[in-house]
Amino acid sequence: MVATVIAHGRIYRKQTKRQIALNSFENSLSYAQQCDREDPLASFREAFHLPKDDRGNPQIYLCGNSLGLQPKQTKEFIEQELQDWATLGVEGHTEARKPWMPYHEFLTPRMARLVGAKESEVVIMNGLTANLHLMMISFYRPTADRYKIIIEKDAFPSDKYAVQSQIKHHGFDPDDGLLFWSPPEGEELCRMQDLELLMAEQGEQVALIMLGNTNYYSGQFYPIEAITQLGHMHGALVGFDLAHGVGNIQPNLHDNGPDFAVWCTYKYLNSGPGSLGGCFVHQRHHQNKDIHRFAGWWGHNKDTRFNMRHDFDPIPTVESWQLSNPPILSMAAIRASLDLFDKAGMDRLRAKSLKLTGYLEYLLDELNDARINIITPRDTSQRGCQLSLQVLNADRSLHEQLTAAHVISDWREPDVIRVAPAPLYNSFADVYHFVDRLKGLLAR
Ligand SMILES: Cc1ncc(COP(=O)(O)O)c(C=O)c1O
Repeated sequence: MVATVIAHGRIYRKQTKRQIALNSFENSLSYAQQCDREDPLASFREAFHLPKDDRGNPQIYLCGNSLGLQPKQTKEFIEQELQDWATLGVEGHTEARKPWMPYHEFLTPRMARLVGAKESEVVIMNGLTANLHLMMISFYRPTADRYKIIIEKDAFPSDKYAVQSQIKHHGFDPDDGLLFWSPPEGEELCRMQDLELLMAEQGEQVALIMLGNTNYYSGQFYPIEAITQLGHMHGALVGFDLAHGVGNIQPNLHDNGPDFAVWCTYKYLNSGPGSLGGCFVHQRHHQNKDIHRFAGWWGHNKDTRFNMRHDFDPIPTVESWQLSNPPILSMAAIRASLDLFDKAGMDRLRAKSLKLTGYLEYLLDELNDARINIITPRDTSQRGCQLSLQVLNADRSLHEQLTAAHVISDWREPDVIRVAPAPLYNSFADVYHFVDRLKGLLAR
């Protein structure tokens, strides 16, 4: 049961009291604490360093969508590599406790489970934007007739710059070659029927659909399978930037079938600032040795890589897109994080996330304050853990006051505070305290 509400001059949908009753949430700290006691994943919070305020109390950290917290085990895993390097030198490539040569292979099964892919389809390498370019070298092959790329209107700037520069690199004009999937005038969310319309009108010219999924600004999660089928039906290839999706929702990449996906590991995957990215190429492309790609020695057949004299012989998996031998210290941080994800399991994390973000939504609705408008979809199948709060008159000072009140969230121009309770370490009490502090600030 959903009601239509008008605020900020915009129309959005709001849960009614009846639906809230169905969720049986309660607006009290004791209820939030009860949820924490019943939470089977509650103990994972202890596995993280929580940033403290000046009195030594944990801050309310709701910013895992930007930079995830540090697992306590990260230090130990990085120190292990530092020790092995100190004692073994170059021999560490084969003799370290976790030999560096195949180090990324220790991470692959867990990363593959996290994104619903086969192990041959997933590799950890480079940064996100670098991987996006490598993917477009292979999967954006424009011709005079089919050269356009579709991104969502409010795509993350790096994605937009990357696709614009690829269009230009191939000799086309980005003003003509870049198409936007836009929400209806005055609204924030993209609708599938508008993408279908765009493809019906211009699909013959579209070479690639490349979407940020989950969208960094609105928190909207787009249907991967439906979009992939739509793109393929019109002869386009389809890729996703899962920076805000991985560790947040289950993208089921193999079954949903996009051609490629890229992501970072420093947000929900808690692997440290600037840590390495992940990359998925669907197995249907692995056997194609003629695929255009930028090559490096780490993508060459492992059996003959060190013979040094061979022509490039690509590994018949996504690993053939690797260029360089990877930074082990960053990989060690990813290992610590993936250990936790594997123990928690994405299904259990998603189940908690639905309840935790549902509770956040309920408490925000209870505020009933026209200065705050949730622009993230109310439909839980279209969102992860993040809620984007549009602030009336783009009043950024509210975000600054929240920070002063030891709530760590982030502000995104022009007018949104993003809050993301991460199910791995956030509690129901965190969510309660956040909304309680927000209420206090709005009452001033
Ligand atoms: C959706 C999205 N795409 C791309 C990037 C850029 O990532 P990187 O700096 O790792 O290339 C980010 C960074 O926050 C992002 O959120």
